[in-house]
Amino acid sequence: MIDVVSLIKKDHRELEELFAKVTAGDGDRQRLLDEITVRLEAHSRAEELEVYPVLSLADPGEEDEVEHAHHEHHEAEHRLRMARNLVVSPHFGAAFTAFVKAVKHHVEEEENEVLPALQKAVDAGRLAELGAAFEQVRGELLASPAAFPDAVTATVASLGDKLGAAPATATGDPADATRDLADATRDELYERAKEADIPRRSAMTKEELAAALRERG
Ligand SMILES: [Fe+2]
Ligand SMILES: [Fe+2]
Repeated sequence: MIDVVSLIKKDHRELEELFAKVTAGDGDRQRLLDEITVRLEAHSRAEELEVYPVLSLADPGEEDEVEHAHHEHHEAEHRLRMARNLVVSPHFGAAFTAFVKAVKHHVEEEENEVLPALQKAVDAGRLAELGAAFEQVRGELLASPAAFPDAVTATVASLGDKLGAAPATATGDPADATRDLADATRDELYERAKEADIPRRSAMTKEELAAALRERG
């Protein structure tokens, strides 16, 4: 069994090769973008489902680092969608460069901070088990991109909206507070969970964060 850190790094290098092909104009741009989209999402979801929660649980001190990594996944996906929308535009190059820069920044932090923290927090046997779990989820998503959780797509879409939208205003009405929870993005819910000091928040989905916040009243 191959350890999860080697598998994640190998996948990073393969994604970077695809980015270089797009930048060099080597191959069909749309087909390459489709491949990058599916592979990046499978990679990120497999990390979010199988790897990041393990680090949060093994070392709660890394919880904010893990949450930051989640946020960077969404940021990269948002940048990729912007580039995809400009595929035949003269502005494609700038949009794609911004996407590559966002991924590069995330990959550097992951390889220099998140993965070394994971290597410190769990033993070699666990790293190998995580490798198998990462590859299984990633493989399933690659085989069936339609299976990507809707919640993830919704989160990415709402992040995109948020980047261009005016800040939400809160009112004192408790009914509005509940509606706020339903409408909030995962990032917003996470910030509120952090304020409320809800444990294991970085391993929670958007729905779980909303439920935990509702319980706190
Ligand atoms: Fe990664
Ligand atoms: Fe990542």
